Amino acid sequence: ITLLRRVDAYFEEHLTRKSKMKESFSDVSFTRSSSNSSIGTDEGLFEHPEPLASSKAVGEKILRRRSLQMHDQQQAWQESPEGRRMLEFRRSLPAYKEKEAILSLLSRNQVVVISGETGCGKTTQIPQFILESEIESVRGAACNIICTQPRRISAMSVSERVAYERGEKLGESVGYKVRLEGMKGRDTHLLFCTTGILLRRLLADRNLTGVTHVIVDEIHERGMNEDFLLIVLKDLLPHRPEMKLILMSATLDSELFSSYFNGAPVMNIPGFTYPVRTHFLEDILEMTGYRLTTSNQIDDYGQERMWKMNKQVPRKRKSQIAYVVEDAIRAADFKDYSPQTQESLLCWNPDCIGFSLIEYILCMICENERPGAVLVFMTGWDDISTLKEKFLAHPVLGDPNRVLLLTCHGSMGSSEQRLIFEEPKDGVRKIVLATNIAETSITINDVVFVLDCGKAKETSYDALNNTPCLLPTWISKVSAQQRRGRAGRVQPGVCYHIYPRCVYDAFAEYQLPEILRTPLQSLCLQIKSLRLGSIPEFLSRALQSPEILAVQNAIEYLKIIGALDENENLTTLGRFFPLSLSLSLSLILGAIFNCLDPILTVAAGLSVRDPFLTPLDKKDLAEAAKSQFAGAYSDHLALIKAYEGWKDAELDMGGCEYCWKNFLSAQSMKAIDALRREFRCLLKDIGLVDSNTANCNLWSCDVNLIRAVICYGLYPGICAVVHNEKSFSLKTMEDGQVLLYSNSVNARETRIPYPWLLFNEKIKVNSVFLRDSTAVPDAVVLLFGGNLLKGDADGHLKMLGGYLEFFMEPPVADLYQCVKRELDDLIQRK
Ligand code: CDP
Ligand code: MG
Repeated sequence: ITLLRRVDAYFEEHLTRKSKMKESFSDVSFTRSSSNSSIGTDEGLFEHPEPLASSKAVGEKILRRRSLQMHDQQQAWQESPEGRRMLEFRRSLPAYKEKEAILSLLSRNQVVVISGETGCGKTTQIPQFILESEIESVRGAACNIICTQPRRISAMSVSERVAYERGEKLGESVGYKVRLEGMKGRDTHLLFCTTGILLRRLLADRNLTGVTHVIVDEIHERGMNEDFLLIVLKDLLPHRPEMKLILMSATLDSELFSSYFNGAPVMNIPGFTYPVRTHFLEDILEMTGYRLTTSNQIDDYGQERMWKMNKQVPRKRKSQIAYVVEDAIRAADFKDYSPQTQESLLCWNPDCIGFSLIEYILCMICENERPGAVLVFMTGWDDISTLKEKFLAHPVLGDPNRVLLLTCHGSMGSSEQRLIFEEPKDGVRKIVLATNIAETSITINDVVFVLDCGKAKETSYDALNNTPCLLPTWISKVSAQQRRGRAGRVQPGVCYHIYPRCVYDAFAEYQLPEILRTPLQSLCLQIKSLRLGSIPEFLSRALQSPEILAVQNAIEYLKIIGALDENENLTTLGRFFPLSLSLSLSLILGAIFNCLDPILTVAAGLSVRDPFLTPLDKKDLAEAAKSQFAGAYSDHLALIKAYEGWKDAELDMGGCEYCWKNFLSAQSMKAIDALRREFRCLLKDIGLVDSNTANCNLWSCDVNLIRAVICYGLYPGICAVVHNEKSFSLKTMEDGQVLLYSNSVNARETRIPYPWLLFNEKIKVNSVFLRDSTAVPDAVVLLFGGNLLKGDADGHLKMLGGYLEFFMEPPVADLYQCVKRELDDLIQRK
């Protein structure tokens, strides 16, 4: 206890001194220019070499010379045969017809809101219009345009497309930047980045010096980062009168944004889509019913799920289609039902029967319909993978000579991404199983048929239980229209909504903004890091303000982990690592207790995509591979082992082979490696790590110590392990029983010889699930579990007495002596 208090005091004193030395802490962390890290979170967004000018006039001369070069280059491309062909294509896009109107509106206003149907050319054209017009008026070298995207994958694919349209390689005048990856150069003047990257930049430079245009794309999605960014930009505009802000939306609710920015003008790009024939469930059943009942095409899987859904329906031998029809009919009279029944009807889950219907419709399209790609909107990755597995074994849908079956989701790799845009061979039909990412951010050109299951996985937040949830929820009317619209882009199309029309009528107009449905901890910390004043006051200025209870929960959490003090001010600790919350405390303790390397791995591992892969067709092999790293009742320790193995192999040039053998993602491993370097630099900056790296790792092999340090970072993510005869169950204070994700090493154990599991994330999907976890003994929770120390001191001390044996190994022997003395002292006094 004394030691930990000393550690606390050390933070306070040491860090305060450091931060006084430099003007502000965040500046220290984010504007550092020395770094051996190649990914640099800290550099500016644009990296034009400062003109080596002896005076302002000379500087302007250099700028002008560069602008002229850009001008000539652009003109040469536009006059080349390929350039002319490209221009012809671009001219065919609806956005191009509004080019002059958009530019003129922008010249007269600081803020402009632009809406237009998906695919009309907002993302690829509007930033280009600005760049081109600046280049034409020989100001190219002075303009810096940022266009934010809600997702990494769209930032990457769009920048590639725009560079291609300009006849350049990516990284010349057009670039992109997402976390840990980027492609930009000295001549980049148009940068596509994720919203998170721009927010991070704001930490270092709140004025966005040098940026001339900010374009916030896809604002209709109402992501938390975008909503947050809008508040910050709204405050910034009066201080940067010459900077322009363009908001782009795929839907027509632009008035909301316009009034938020004091009546900024709205420009709507009239869209053109071919008519789309629309079918709802009733129509589909009418179309398919007869054949389904007679040829019995639906398998047992669908049937079984149906029965589960309709408990009240007697389980007699009725064909499945009859149940579907029954549901449709019941739903059709929807308005006459009581509110409870209405609610239960809305819970009626179309994806279950949907699976069979989707299969049926796809076969029908493949056999009878004209050429054209099919886009299937599913709820999420698990549905997509189940469906894909099912289809691969299907005589028609699994035949590579007839069908090119692809998937489209947020975490796909870039080669997978490119396949989606390619045209299949003649006679082969492209079928893309997608999440709602294909709704507005990614345009697949040749889609003619759309299937829409009506749901999407949406994160939500249960403020009362303080638990984040990820559940399939009905989409909004606007989303359904978007999905339908994807079918009519190149020719008249067909859309199958696999739910009754009355369910559609009951959809909300728009989706609830993310800020109203997710935990706010990192947002609150960001508000404090950017010195934006009181959290509740700041959030009250959002487009729509979150619930007070959600804000209070977040503030309470930040106090528990020590990021905020009693008065809700940022502590010195809170200023450290403002953006990656979960394991920053572990990192600091890892540095102080000299077991830094493994903790760096854990902290980095939690910030990237799960490196343990579980391909559908090799699930058993993948699990067996992961279990080689198990044995310590900890996913985090398994990750450490896997990373160390990879690092050794990588030194022998065998990293890829190692990943392949062990079902690890080489991309994630490399990202972990890069992040580790970044974290180490941050620790060095605040003086917790010196250049003698050997010292940092004196105790890196001490598994128990690592457990304790991880516990310090993950607390209050804690649940109790309750053993019964055969196995064990897990309980948290707020949720009661919770479960482990099947890929956790602890999920395969029948006993866990420790009473507690610490976890970094829980999420509600039907039940509450824990992702990665580490088992720890009582003593660790007592000493490293944050505010438990403040609670029932007597009870804790008694328990502690029984567990002191745990601390017999160095370096904790010191701590042991210390605790023992303190304990004896206390007991005597009592
Ligand atoms: O942003 P918005 O949805 O309005 O459209 P966009 O992403 O700018 O795309 C405009 C057009 O560019 C699309 O309709 C596609 O024809 C084309 N495009 C493409 O061919 N390949 C891409 N990677 C992106 C767009
Ligand atoms: Mg777009």
